[in-house]
Order: sequence, then C-alpha cells, then structure tokens
Amino acid sequence: MEDKKVIFSGVQPSGDLTLGNYLGAVKNWVALQDEYDCYYCVVDLHSITVPQDPKNLRRRTLEVMALYMAAGIDPNKSTIFIQSHVSSHIELSWVLGTMTYLGELNRMTQFKDKIQKNEKNLNSGLFTYPVLMAADILLYQTDLVPVGDDQKQHLELARDLSQRFNNKYSDTFIVPEPMISKVGARIMDLQDPTVKMSKSGDNENGYILLMDAPDTIRRKIKRSVTDSMNRVKYCDEQPGVKNLLTIYSKITGEKIENIEEKYRDKGYKEFKIDLADIIVEELKPIREKYLEYMNDKKYLEKVYKDGAAKAEKVARKTLRKVYKKTGFIPR
Ligand code: TRP
Repeated sequence: MEDKKVIFSGVQPSGDLTLGNYLGAVKNWVALQDEYDCYYCVVDLHSITVPQDPKNLRRRTLEVMALYMAAGIDPNKSTIFIQSHVSSHIELSWVLGTMTYLGELNRMTQFKDKIQKNEKNLNSGLFTYPVLMAADILLYQTDLVPVGDDQKQHLELARDLSQRFNNKYSDTFIVPEPMISKVGARIMDLQDPTVKMSKSGDNENGYILLMDAPDTIRRKIKRSVTDSMNRVKYCDEQPGVKNLLTIYSKITGEKIENIEEKYRDKGYKEFKIDLADIIVEELKPIREKYLEYMNDKKYLEKVYKDGAAKAEKVARKTLRKVYKKTGFIPR
C-alpha cells in the first residue's frame, strides 16, 4: 500500500450527471484502483463558486458518489470522500493562496470564460478556484491526476505551487503530473462539438444524461451533429464524427482504426444506430446500480464517513508539515 503511487481526482456535484462525466472521467478511474492508491473526491466546495440550491447540492453530492460506485469504484480499494468533510483543503488553500500571484489566476482560461458567461456572479471563489484545486491535489502527495485537457492549466498551477513551496522551505510536496487519456480526453456536446458535454449546455440534444431513457438516447444520437463528408473518420475536420468515435471507442475499448474500418463503406446512419445501442447497453447496468445506491442512504453515509476519516489522516499529516514550515506554532 505504502509504495503505490497516489492518484487524486474529483467531480463537481453541480448538475445532472451526463455521459461526459461518466466516459470522460469516472469510467477511466476504475482501472486504476489496483495499481494506485486512489482518492476520488466529490468537490462540493468548488461547486459553490456558481450559485447552488442547497437541496439540489445535497442530492447531487450523493449522486456523484453513487455514480462513482455504480461505475465500479470500490470503496474498499479507493478512498471516496466529500471535499467539505476534510477541512484541510480550505486550510492549505489559504496558505497556497498567499503564494499565488494575481497574474497567474488572471491567465486562467476557465476563469476568463466564466467572466464572459456569468457576469452577475463574479465572486472571488471563481478566481481562487485553481488554488483550492491545487490544495486538493497536494494534500495527498498526489503523483498523478487524471483530468480532461480543460483542467491542464489548473494542474500546471498545482505543479508550480508545489515547487514554489518546496523551494521556499524544503521538500514538502510531490510535484503532480497530469494523466490525460490518449483517446478523447473529453466528451463533447453532441450539437456543438467544440464545447464540453455538460448539462449546462443550452440545447438538451447536446448531452446525454445517465438517466435518459433508451429512446431519448437513440434520438439524441440520431440528431447529433456530423458533417457532409459522409465518412466515419477520426480527424479534426470532422469534430462531430470524431466525438462519436471517441464515445464508441471509450465504451467498447475498440481501437479507432478498427471502428473506422468497420464503417468504411457505411453511412452515418448505420454508425449512429450501432452507437446508440452501445450506449444504451453500457448505461443500463450502471443506471440500475446507481439507483440501488441512491436508495441506500445508510450505505452512502458509511462510505463517505469512512472515506473522510481515511482522507483526513493523510491530509492532516501534510498540513501539519506545511504549518510548521510556515512558522505557525503547533497547538
Ligand atoms: N476542476 C475540476 C473539474 O471541474 C474538478 C476538481 C476539483 C479536480 N479539484 C480537483 C479534478 C482535483 C482533479 C483534481 O473538472
């Protein structure tokens, strides 16, 4: 256990869960559990940087946990926990914030995008969001962080901050590395394949929810945006088809080349029909398990309590070192 490398990742409980959450994140984490010491967090503190209804936030926090387990994350192997249960995240975030330059946060593209979209709620949490994310990662002496390419810049900050702290005091943090999967690090919107699939997309045909009925899934795939080239090929000139191929490959595990070959003389129609079937089959057992977990609040409670206790031990150890090196008097 001790010499396993550490992995940390998290999902925000900020919207209904989509195929993108599952394929782009959680599904990839399952295979890592035996080889690594994994921490899978529900990052509720991050999610309040945009307004949340308390009741929905509570429900969605449990939903993310239920998805983790339905997808195959085993709480006996990995540490599943809720971010706000381990107060060290906030505490380390404060210390790191005093070592983060305004310029670094101003450069964050996600922040710049959010400013453009959400001018009514320009709170300072949105601005310092990447510092909290760095604290999440650094507290657990994380070696590897599986994230989509949209989070790479945030991870870069975590790396810079770890090195900055280590250089200023002495070796304290592991410098984390990104772990970005080869095939399609992100699942894109079905109507606008230039943006990430998310429930906040304006067009409901753009995303597939884990809870969508099979007919709905079939309809959304049928209507998904492609192009007029009419060839099933994975390339940047065909972003819609590329995204569908990514989904296909992520679910079946087949190589992209093999899928291209299989549909060489076939049109989009047939490709889409098959893809819709594949998605429906994949989600069926996950949805069933997910509902089982959601109906067993006692079990969910046990998992997050045990998880928080395990996470807290590790996090406290790092935080103690940080406080000591900073010059705070131990209690
Ligand atoms: N910012 C990440 C996202 O929106 C979520 C997140 C928060 C995270 N803390 C993290 C991901 C730490 C990896 C590691 O996807």
